[in-house]
Amino acid sequence: MMARAHKVRATRGERRSTPASLLIMHASELLTLGGTPGPRRWDAASELGLIEDGAVYAEQDRIVDVGTTSQVLSRHPRASVQLDATGTVVMPGFVDPHTHVVFAGSREREVEWKSQGLSYADIAARGGGILQTVGATRDAKEEGLAQDGANRLRAMAAFGTTTVEAKSGYGLDPDNERKVLRSIVEAGRIAGLDVVPTFLGAHAIPPEFGGRPEAYVDLVLGDMLEAVTSDGLASFCDVFVDVGYFSVDQARRILTKAREVGLRPKVHADELSDTGGAALAAEMQAVSADHLNHASSEGIEAMSHEGVIAVLLPATSLASHIPFADGRRLVAAGVPVAIGTDFNPNTWCESMQLAIALACHHNGLTPAEAITAATLNAAHAIGREQDVGSVESGKLADLLVLDIPSWRHLGYRLGGNAVETVVKRGRILHRRPGTR
Ligand code: NIG
Ligand code: FE
Repeated sequence: MMARAHKVRATRGERRSTPASLLIMHASELLTLGGTPGPRRWDAASELGLIEDGAVYAEQDRIVDVGTTSQVLSRHPRASVQLDATGTVVMPGFVDPHTHVVFAGSREREVEWKSQGLSYADIAARGGGILQTVGATRDAKEEGLAQDGANRLRAMAAFGTTTVEAKSGYGLDPDNERKVLRSIVEAGRIAGLDVVPTFLGAHAIPPEFGGRPEAYVDLVLGDMLEAVTSDGLASFCDVFVDVGYFSVDQARRILTKAREVGLRPKVHADELSDTGGAALAAEMQAVSADHLNHASSEGIEAMSHEGVIAVLLPATSLASHIPFADGRRLVAAGVPVAIGTDFNPNTWCESMQLAIALACHHNGLTPAEAITAATLNAAHAIGREQDVGSVESGKLADLLVLDIPSWRHLGYRLGGNAVETVVKRGRILHRRPGTR
């Protein structure tokens, strides 16, 4: 069929509030991501559930019908808002399963230091890195943190992200960790995105505990964990396991306690060196192990055995000048793979499209695997697979209209933005300026 136009046009209806019903039709390619249940691995990691000349019909915030345009139109001939998606790719909103999006200040000075050859550890030793951001975040007011976070979430949404995991970890004491977690929730509310908060009290040893790491671990698994769980501020607990941060033994103690109080474990694993983070994630039956730049074969095997999802963060390899995780090896070992931006003051990356392209060029994922990693597997990595990550009846109407002729352009284009329209919970959240 001839593509009629590259413009997506709202043929009827209002954009800014949630319409009673929404119909997107004539997508050249609709990627539903429907198919094999559970986190996708092995060959299933390439299943995109592609429908040519596809259509999606939603009522309020949920998807009601999906199929070819003629099938969907025969069942739902009209809607209060209708989009003609001729010439475009329609797919689920990106799920970013790993960010540190709420913090104060910025660290642009470190780019110069990296250019001069300083490592992540060198920069931390010079007073940069995580602890610099901790100082700024402790000084910041909650309202400012939430507003800055919301602005960053809006920028991410303009690149197609509709659900975001966000970690604390720049407070590092009970009050400030609570402040950051509340700001994460408020940022999501302001920006209109779903956020999933993770407690990362074990991100670094704060200065007042210098030389007393065990005392800080006791604080994390005692007062801090209690402070963040007493009013349900977090869903997950993460630990940065690496040289100069937390040991496997310390992380095991923290995550064991976290699990007892209802938080699901995650691990920042083997980012700067192999300290056994991947194997620990498997032992703890963590939902995900993230980074994995230096993961051992034994750690990867253990993850595959326990079904731990690998969250790859290629933008961090780019920004920190460290090796890219071997995604091909993970897929070959049967580990389900997800991708995130890792948005943080070291890696200021708003774009899941860039993360996908980097994953294709440097982590060894195929474009189809990278798309699965940025949608359905990412949803599994943050426990939101019932609601997001695919275009299927009953899920939230979180949808993207992309101005590209085929899905393969997602792995191919570097650093641009193919997003023409973002639909979040059935509402048009963002339209590229100039789109009518
Ligand atoms: O995921 N690795 C630890 N934490 C972050 C970086 C945080 C920072 O540098 O501020 C990460 O890359
Ligand atoms: Fe991180």
